[in-house]
Amino acid sequence: MSNNALKPLLVVEDNPGVQKQLKWSFEGYHVVLASDRVSALKQIKQVHPSVVTLDLGLPPDPTNASEGLAALTEILELAPYTKVIVVTGNDDRKNALKAVSLGAYDFYQKPIDPDVLGLIVDRAYNLYELEEENRDLAKQKYASPTGNIVGDSPQMQQVCRMLEKVGPSDVTTLILGESGTGKELFAQALHTLSRRKDKPFVAVNCAAIPENLLESELFGYEKGAFTGAVKRTRGKVEYADGGTLFLDEIGDMPVPLQAKMLRFLQERIIEPIGSRKTIQVDVRILCATHQDLDQRIQKQEFREDLYYRISGIVLEIPPLRERDGDLILLARTFLEQFNRQYGKKIRGFSESALGRIEHYAWPGNVRELENKVKRAIVLADSEWISVADLGFTEEADAVLSLNLKQARENAERRVIRQSLAVHNNNISRAASAIGVSRPSLYNLMKKLEMVGIGED
Ligand SMILES: Nc1ncnc2c1ncn2[C@@H]1O[C@H](COP(=O)(O)OP(=O)(O)OP(=O)(O)O)[C@@H](O)[C@H]1O
Ligand SMILES: [Mg+2]
Repeated sequence: MSNNALKPLLVVEDNPGVQKQLKWSFEGYHVVLASDRVSALKQIKQVHPSVVTLDLGLPPDPTNASEGLAALTEILELAPYTKVIVVTGNDDRKNALKAVSLGAYDFYQKPIDPDVLGLIVDRAYNLYELEEENRDLAKQKYASPTGNIVGDSPQMQQVCRMLEKVGPSDVTTLILGESGTGKELFAQALHTLSRRKDKPFVAVNCAAIPENLLESELFGYEKGAFTGAVKRTRGKVEYADGGTLFLDEIGDMPVPLQAKMLRFLQERIIEPIGSRKTIQVDVRILCATHQDLDQRIQKQEFREDLYYRISGIVLEIPPLRERDGDLILLARTFLEQFNRQYGKKIRGFSESALGRIEHYAWPGNVRELENKVKRAIVLADSEWISVADLGFTEEADAVLSLNLKQARENAERRVIRQSLAVHNNNISRAASAIGVSRPSLYNLMKKLEMVGIGED
């Protein structure tokens, strides 16, 4: 068996004789040695042992337990679930008890009998594994379809409530939002909430597939339909039968194909290329786009009739910069996620890094934040993520990317939205509540491009 397949066990011990003795006395473990506090912490970060034996008498003063106790505290800070077995001099019961009160799992008094110490180590490992299983179970219990959508802001709460209502229905849903706001995440949650959740969720990115291939990708083709069609091939729509078909970036679908799509949406029948037979399919349709569909309809780049077909319900995901209070929550969530993924123990963001996160305009939304935190976790030299780790320059260029005008407009939008919500979208009442006349509110909303909300 290679060392890598064995469970790592960290032995912290400064006496070379004892080191040698312990190195070979634990069967079934890959023993890693450290002879002082600093190298012990380094090994904790590198090999992530579940169990550690720690000699309390460490250099610079091996007759005194203070360095060993300091090492214990730091190990548990870095890896709180680690089982640390402290090893003490034969008459040092006081420090042994102190170590246990600081969080050590058990203690063992010298001289060392490797068989006995081996049993204590085995027991610690078993306990660690049991506890880990419990932690995993607890995590699963709380996982819900919307559970991986992070957001506390009123703006996100509102969309999530809508998501929970729309999910279980079969209604065709259009998800709108800037790039990186979480449209695909929402589409998956809608699928998971539906009765189709055990059937396929098939996503087609209409912008990524070349125009001449998109049709066969969607509807499939018959053998011999064109050169290279050596066998009948099913399209994505057929694969999704019984489940959900997610047409991502539908705003970029070529106009000729839009006509075919419309026909499919009306009849739920497909006709593979080169085939005379039609196939009935049962799919729920979800669509998403970051494009402004109104504008594309005006430019005749998107069919209006298709728009009405796909927009049974419209879920609008707000851009990150308009979600009050979600930035830090998301940043922390990504920090923990990437710490786990990369085996890092970064503690958090420096104060200036937090300031930059809060003031940056986030044009790439959640995806940009996710990428910046990932990069920072990989690059960070210290326990705290700095402005530079996040890929921001030291000057406040990014702060200014949200200029005064935008900031004012965002604030105005927020107040108007809240007032409309409180007054059930009644513009006259919303206007008087915020101290402007009805026509001025109208004009303001037009200027702020707040179309589609508010009615009298
Ligand atoms: N509210 C959220 N909570 C946690 N993670 C999120 C959230 N929103 C988005 N993400 C994550 O951000 C990334 C981008 O999300 P997603 O791919 O769903 O965005 P999108 O709107 O489809 O983007 P694009 O327009 O670029 O296709 C994903 O990794 C996703 O898991
Ligand atoms: Mg997407």
